[in-house]
Amino acid sequence: MKYFIDTANMDEIKDIHEWGVLRGVTTNPSLVAKEKDISFHDRLVEICELVQGPVSGEVIALDAAGMIEEGRELAKLHEHIIVKIPMTDEGMKAVNVLSSEGIKTNVTLVFNTVQALTAAHAGATYVSPFIGRLDDIGLDGMDLIADIRHIFTIHGIGTEIIAASIRNEGHVHGAAAAGADIATIPYKVLKKLTSHPLTDKGIDQFLKDWNSQKGQ
Ligand code: E4P
Repeated sequence: MKYFIDTANMDEIKDIHEWGVLRGVTTNPSLVAKEKDISFHDRLVEICELVQGPVSGEVIALDAAGMIEEGRELAKLHEHIIVKIPMTDEGMKAVNVLSSEGIKTNVTLVFNTVQALTAAHAGATYVSPFIGRLDDIGLDGMDLIADIRHIFTIHGIGTEIIAASIRNEGHVHGAAAAGADIATIPYKVLKKLTSHPLTDKGIDQFLKDWNSQKGQ
């Protein structure tokens, strides 16, 4: 399972990029709105240039014609742009047209298996089931990842599954175990993926032992 970062913040992207683990980036209108005084398009290009992997930028229009127009504009920005489209009737029309033009799409706000299957049939390159938001309403987001994986595998569907709305390290583990192709992970969760209390304790002990020997 590949790691993407779910942010539009350059400092966060640069920090994780230096680890060598980052394969792509997802943004959404809420994440872009948090970034003050930026041009959305310029930021997408900056991210693409740094990461050199798929970078999702979301359309704002809700009608197919508007989504197609925005999608074409976004796709022109950089070869790594993925056009993010919401899971609606109009969204499927847009995915159908954009994919026929060779433009890659990420269908977002997926909350059940038939939405994922429909998006795949429309031509989506990626589908993004939202784990955390399902957990928030008392359902099990991880079951959805496993179910989509099962359905895509038995039907030979190549659309990649991006586990989205990740809230903690358990979600990262669960998504990997359930067969997600990608997890798009917020910065604060990525920062926890290197740590364990026994690692910290071990480092303290090694340093204590080293210093006690060196002190003699
Ligand atoms: C996915 O592409 C979305 O940007 C994201 O994962 C949404 O997560 P949230 O539910 O934490 O807002």
